[in-house]
Amino acid sequence: MKHHLELNFPFQIIKDDIVYPEYQNIWQFAVVDATNYLTPVALNFFKQLGIDDLYCEFIKGDPNQKCNIHVDGRIMDDGSVYVRSEWAINIIWGSESSKMFWYRPHGKDLRRMMGDTGITYPIYYPEEVDVIEEYTVTGKPLLCDISTPHNVINFDDKIRWCMSIRSKSTKLQWADACKFFEQYSAEQQITA
Ligand SMILES: [Fe+2]
Repeated sequence: MKHHLELNFPFQIIKDDIVYPEYQNIWQFAVVDATNYLTPVALNFFKQLGIDDLYCEFIKGDPNQKCNIHVDGRIMDDGSVYVRSEWAINIIWGSESSKMFWYRPHGKDLRRMMGDTGITYPIYYPEEVDVIEEYTVTGKPLLCDISTPHNVINFDDKIRWCMSIRSKSTKLQWADACKFFEQYSAEQQITA
């Protein structure tokens, strides 16, 4: 099963006049209020789909930087990994050259990384994984699997901005999300 799907929405998703958060580190994210960053049309679209618990992360990637290979989840006290939303719809701009990669770990080992928010999340060392998929960012909205180890490399001299739109719930797993958003697939609309 693929780990990404390019989408095409017939409306604008991000508002024109948005406030860029202050960031301290190279790869940094801020949790932002969807109503301040998404257009009313987009907010309504997700609501109509039954997704009324949007969770948005506004991610800044510095020029020529890569982020850790990670899963968007947290490591629980018993060592298990809890993933809230297995999918994200990423709107990416600024950088003209970036790629997203997905990986298969060689073993079950994962490393612990303490995020700025105090949440411990799983990361993987490059020598302990194999690349299973890669995607060159085109600027189209990207439905992506964030429950499989992944990372992003920004090859450009410009900042890479990403608004990552997710759900707060676990109800839509990755396979379900693919089916759910298939009707908005950019590939389907080109061949139709
Ligand atoms: Fe991620």
